[in-house]
Amino acid sequence: MSKEEKKPFSQTMAEWRQFVYNPRSGEFLGRTAKSWGLILLFYLVFYGFLAALFTFTMWVLLQTLSGDIPKYRDRISSPGLMISPKPVTALEFYFNKSDSKSYAEYVSTLKQFLKSYDDSKQSKNIACTAGKLFEQNEDRAVKQACQFNRTMLGSCSGVEDDTFGYAKGTPCVLVKMNRIIGLKPEGEPHIQCSPKEEGKVQITYFPDGGTIDLMYFPYYGKNLHADYLQPLVAVQLAINSSSTKEDVTIECKIMGSPNLRNEDDRDKFLGRISFKVQMSE
Ligand SMILES: *[C@@H]1O[C@H](CO)[C@@H](O)[C@H](O)[C@H]1NC(C)=O
Ligand SMILES: *[C@@H]1O[C@H](CO)[C@@H](O)[C@H](O)[C@H]1NC(C)=O
Ligand SMILES: *[C@@H]1O[C@H](CO)[C@@H](O)[C@H](O)[C@H]1NC(C)=O
Repeated sequence: MSKEEKKPFSQTMAEWRQFVYNPRSGEFLGRTAKSWGLILLFYLVFYGFLAALFTFTMWVLLQTLSGDIPKYRDRISSPGLMISPKPVTALEFYFNKSDSKSYAEYVSTLKQFLKSYDDSKQSKNIACTAGKLFEQNEDRAVKQACQFNRTMLGSCSGVEDDTFGYAKGTPCVLVKMNRIIGLKPEGEPHIQCSPKEEGKVQITYFPDGGTIDLMYFPYYGKNLHADYLQPLVAVQLAINSSSTKEDVTIECKIMGSPNLRNEDDRDKFLGRISFKVQMSE
């Protein structure tokens, strides 16, 4: 056993007390008040300097960024596809066409989403020339947006049929392309959907042919292009009555545009999306 451990307890305590405060030398935790003062001053100055340096470099960095366009983009990427309504459980729609509660959430999501597409709200936007990119002057501070009227979605607009077809067994799903600043699609982009198995479902597109008009591009970003609304394609599915209660898988893709990709092994949403519908009655 070492010597220290044999020290009586009271002696150890006294040594500790002396270490915490030594009345003879006036030391507190082994340092005099002056020494503590100097050391605190040193760290104050040291950390103050670091904080100032950090703030300054951050400021310099932020000066070089623009709030409107991303600084680093190696190339304009190809957009992904998404659908609305987006079922909570993966991308699977389950509903009973005779039970309005079973599809109430899909209907309310669609209603909410399409509010900003109301024809009355779109009248503040301009009617653009179809089939042509709508490029706007660089020095225009606020970019204009092209009209996309809700009524262009026909029987999926919710105007005549406020259940978007769900009550009739012809549910509507909106397909939208993610916004990418500066993207200028080429060719004649359109959405094309196909069921995994033939004969289970018939698909109708709104607008006709699933067209995504070029006039809705390019997009200039949230700040400059505040009124911008992305173009939509509604697909209405008429499920064959022999296929109710079965899973119907549908895949939608962007077609007809050489610079919009729709195949990528690593990204299953790049230019395509697939979802399942199961309807009962
Ligand atoms: C669908 O809803 C109707 C009406 O509520 C009900 O009679 C029927 O059994 C439901 N079908 C299924 C498969 O749950
Ligand atoms: C959209 O609706 C408004 C109001 O009804 C109409 O004035 C406008 O021409 C429509 N635009 C398009 C592109 O259909
Ligand atoms: C519905 O399904 C039946 C049986 O699979 C098939 O014979 C019929 O052609 C289908 N109808 C449509 C409109 O695809």
